Amino acid sequence: MSDSISSLSKENRKFHPSKEFVKNANIKSVAAYKKIKNKADKNPTLFWAQVAKDLHWQIPFKKTLEWKFPVVKWFSDGKINAAENTLDVHLNTNRRNKAALIWEGEPGDVRTLTYLQLALEVNKLANGLKSLGVKKGDVVGIYLGMVPEAVIAMLACARIGATHNVVFGGFSGEALRDRLNDSRAKVLLTQDGAFRRGSPSSLKGAVNKVLNHVQTLKTVVVLKRTGQETPMQANRDIWWHDLVNEQSNECKAEALESEHPLFILYTSGSTGKPKGILHTTGGYLVQTKYTMKEVFDLKENDIYFCTADIGWVTGHSYVTYGPLMNGSTVFLYEGAPTHPGPDRFWSMVAKHRISIFYTAPTAIRSFMRSGDEFPNKHDLSSLRLLGSVGEPINPEAWMWYYNVIGKKRCPIVDTWWQTETGSIMIAPIPGALFLKPGTATLPLPGILADVVNKDGKPCKANEGGLLVVKHPWPSMLRTIFGDHERYAHTYFGEFKKQKYYFTGDGARKDKDGYIWIMGRVDDVVNISGHRLGTAEVESALVSNPLVAEAAVVARPDEIKGSALVAFVTLKAHAKENIQDFEEMKEILKKWVAKEIGPIAKPDEIRFTDALPKTRSGKIMRRLLREMVTTGKTSGDTSTLEDFSVLEKLRANDEE
Ligand code: WT7
Repeated sequence: MSDSISSLSKENRKFHPSKEFVKNANIKSVAAYKKIKNKADKNPTLFWAQVAKDLHWQIPFKKTLEWKFPVVKWFSDGKINAAENTLDVHLNTNRRNKAALIWEGEPGDVRTLTYLQLALEVNKLANGLKSLGVKKGDVVGIYLGMVPEAVIAMLACARIGATHNVVFGGFSGEALRDRLNDSRAKVLLTQDGAFRRGSPSSLKGAVNKVLNHVQTLKTVVVLKRTGQETPMQANRDIWWHDLVNEQSNECKAEALESEHPLFILYTSGSTGKPKGILHTTGGYLVQTKYTMKEVFDLKENDIYFCTADIGWVTGHSYVTYGPLMNGSTVFLYEGAPTHPGPDRFWSMVAKHRISIFYTAPTAIRSFMRSGDEFPNKHDLSSLRLLGSVGEPINPEAWMWYYNVIGKKRCPIVDTWWQTETGSIMIAPIPGALFLKPGTATLPLPGILADVVNKDGKPCKANEGGLLVVKHPWPSMLRTIFGDHERYAHTYFGEFKKQKYYFTGDGARKDKDGYIWIMGRVDDVVNISGHRLGTAEVESALVSNPLVAEAAVVARPDEIKGSALVAFVTLKAHAKENIQDFEEMKEILKKWVAKEIGPIAKPDEIRFTDALPKTRSGKIMRRLLREMVTTGKTSGDTSTLEDFSVLEKLRANDEE
């Protein structure tokens, strides 16, 4: 920790918003900001109760926060509907015929849906789902690419009170099966295939086999996008167009309790099993709407492009719910950022006059590597605000983003949050605060985030510690689906006495109170802005019949943030029979890709006779981490790694 503390604190550059930006900003000065923040932080419950009035409640709430540690409820006696707050609220206003979605397919086809058109499509699908027997409280799986129907699917579920479980389209069939089983999904919405890197990739076809291993699944609805040949199973599979074409485009928005589950989204934890993060309706919507408006300093005429896939929480909160509740125009893109060339995003920014662009540091680093000539070919003058999310942005990438993309004109909002927090927690208010490259700046009004030591005491300025949240916030997770025990333990086990939520991140606060994230303190790694539990990759490896044991650690990677290195011990009989160990490594990499998805594929596999362990049998990943980052190792990667050095350490290096 101490290394990263001192190296980070060298970054002292400050960037103030331009006069031009401040003139039009929602919150224009430090004084105005402080006034809101001080008041909100003194009484977060009251603050959020006031913010909540900005939404449409079918039955207004009287209660605000109920906090029976670690069970939390917000606005529990109110009734509200997410689809109504994203669609219906705009239909009697000037936004009725405003573009809600502008979508560009990878081949270049463009579709625009106005708020009215989107509402009618959502109603039709909602009625279609009802006709399949989907009721309030049922879980609907969504396994789609980036098509307008992905947004339609989420909102159709929300309209009738079904809980959606979006599974990232890049996950494998096995990962999909596990998530559908765990959430007890009744219906799956998917598509034939999606365009990716110039050719149609298969979705439905690729997962067809595993779907029969989901007992609860009754119907699979298949959207035709590419027209590729797609297996359809009688009595289970139907085409999307056949389901919706005959449906009425009117559908009542169900009045749902504020604490009704809006969605489950799986994310990695430090054990092998992904966690089904459960979010409910009222509180989630309140904070998502507020943060969207204030952090992105939203204006009526913005065209907003968030590059995240709907399979991640960013795609829920800042592609679907946040922007649409605010009546914004959302730009969606189907395909790969590098197709047909590394300037695809910039050509779309110019073509559609995009004004807000929100992406991840890993993407910024890869744009940087491809060269300035690609953004420089295009007119980026429509941009006025840039955003970053997913991992700490290194100052070098920040400066590049600021200079080459934003032309020194656009503030960068570095937004810290998590799948569990539901919406943004730490971020600058861009018209008020100065920025420093590499920090998400200050907790938002009403968010009591702090850096504390192991005893829960606040750290001194620049002292490394743990990032916690001291007071409940509206969009926090309510539980881990089906495992409340794990919820209590994972998030509230660390600071039980103080009742703090523990984020899992290490951090420090500088003398301005700005929070610098120093990475995860558990066995969770950040690969290309996506969280992966190393234990999950380990359990995928061990599920291979030839593998006895595996330990997975991360080493820093210039583009991806981290790269995965897997130490694998093979079963005795396997070792004797394997001819080509290099080939075996490739087989295991593919195995992980099949079990979890290509993002989890180890970058490197090293075979070893034994793993370094403590006497109690815990693998000492710390030593392995050191080995892969400092390179202090015997180095023969072709066959077996010799651990005798580590063995010697064992006696005096207990964890
Ligand atoms: C973890 C959460 C929130 C949507 C994307 C990731 C890291 C996220 C930042 C940031 C530094 C960040 C943290 C966090 N992280 N944003 N702006 N600066 N670190 O969601 O998969 O739930 O991962 O991502 O380590 O705990 P997620």
